[in-house]
Amino acid sequence: MVAKVVIKGGNKLSGKVRIMGAKNSVLELVPATLLTDEKVVLKNVPVLKDVETIVELMKAFGTDVQWDKENCTLTLQTKEIISNKAPYEIVKTMRASIYVLGALLGRCGSARVSFPGGCVIGTRPIDIHVRAMKCLGASVETIHGYIVAKAPTVDGETRLIGDVMDLLVTEKSGHKITTHGGCVNAILAAVLAKGQTVIENASMEPELDDLISMLNLMGAKIKRDKYDDGTDVIIIDGVDKLHGCEYSVMPDRMEAMTYAIVGAMNGGVVEVQNIDTSKMEYFLEKFKEAGVVFDDKGDSLIVYGDKTKLKAVDVETLPYPGFPTDIQSPFMTLISVAEGKSTLCENVWENRFQCVQELQRMGANADIINPNTVCFTGVESLDPTDVIASELRGGMALVLAGLVAKPTGYTNIHRAYHIFRGYANFAENLRNLGAEISIEDE
Ligand code: EPZ
Repeated sequence: MVAKVVIKGGNKLSGKVRIMGAKNSVLELVPATLLTDEKVVLKNVPVLKDVETIVELMKAFGTDVQWDKENCTLTLQTKEIISNKAPYEIVKTMRASIYVLGALLGRCGSARVSFPGGCVIGTRPIDIHVRAMKCLGASVETIHGYIVAKAPTVDGETRLIGDVMDLLVTEKSGHKITTHGGCVNAILAAVLAKGQTVIENASMEPELDDLISMLNLMGAKIKRDKYDDGTDVIIIDGVDKLHGCEYSVMPDRMEAMTYAIVGAMNGGVVEVQNIDTSKMEYFLEKFKEAGVVFDDKGDSLIVYGDKTKLKAVDVETLPYPGFPTDIQSPFMTLISVAEGKSTLCENVWENRFQCVQELQRMGANADIINPNTVCFTGVESLDPTDVIASELRGGMALVLAGLVAKPTGYTNIHRAYHIFRGYANFAENLRNLGAEISIEDE
């Protein structure tokens, strides 16, 4: 079934939205459970396509999975690894599958993981993931499209060996671009390695701290630190064994910010609940600069919507604590109807402006001035029409555009399956706020 989202815009939206656990945390916490033969219970797990995919992948390794979707609880236990192969059919659909590389190497000393393909938001290389595994002593080669990795055997023991690694991707306009996924894989591999591992230029994304918290609860020894020159490091002292645990996934920052934008544009009062606003600081700064009025309660955000007060703002995406790349597309919809000229610069992914053309179809005045910079001159409102979602966040930007569009017709968002990857029950949540939105077959 291919679904489309159908929206009649212009409704005033008011009410409360409860935010679920973070997709990008779950996608690393689930592979982390491979590091123990005991049971791990994850709570606050959203029912999402990407979570279904990672669960499917776990079954290939022999993991016993019980997913109580009603209670948002996922229980996983891998008593024994029955296969170290992450098959192409599953890995090709989701980049985060690559995290099983570090986890399998850590648990059983070998892994065969299908090479993930390119992706619509950029080339998404994995060279740094591979560099991290090699740094821990693994041999890594590509055979028939599979990354085949083996831990070294020293004195009869097959086990990775801790070391110092620098995982910096690059520096752009004086800012360090770090790799979140590369750090996830390095941590998963290093937790059971022999000796100490130090990851220099570590990613600061909060979802990485969620992983560190759960692993420490399971008996790992991981801490963050800083060198005197300000370099962020993660220090992992390898342990022999991890045990099971019960862990509640952190709230989804991207989902929270997305509903905050919904609140800002649609003339009502929207309370975004079950969040941690301290992890949204830079976004909230820009939100305020854009003229949005809100009350920050720490674990909730009350947004007072008034489209007429929105004003232009310049935004540049950067790794945490900078403005998150994953919210730039939904933010585009906001600045497309904000008075004045806004500039948005994307520094993390090279191809994340897919939705600009679709927003233009809806009447947005946008101009891509170079491959990573787009300018919007705010228009009073958008026009409903047919558009295509080509990736998750850009797809959600179109949903937001449909909500704010004139009520003179319907916005039909085709290829809506991208949106289901990352936003649980979004149509229901928006209907509860008063939106006219449905998901239909096509
Ligand atoms: C994570 O992707 C998120 N995905 C992305 O969210 C998010 O956009 C990104 O981090 C940045 O915050 C998940 O957590 C599942 P990176 P990840 O490694 O880890 C380059 C969403 O919408 N790089 O931090 O894959 C890379 O090309 C998704 O939910 C290398 O060059 O991102 C990029 O330019 C989309 N070599 C930069 O680093 C490598 O080996 C940052 O990527 C790895 C990365």
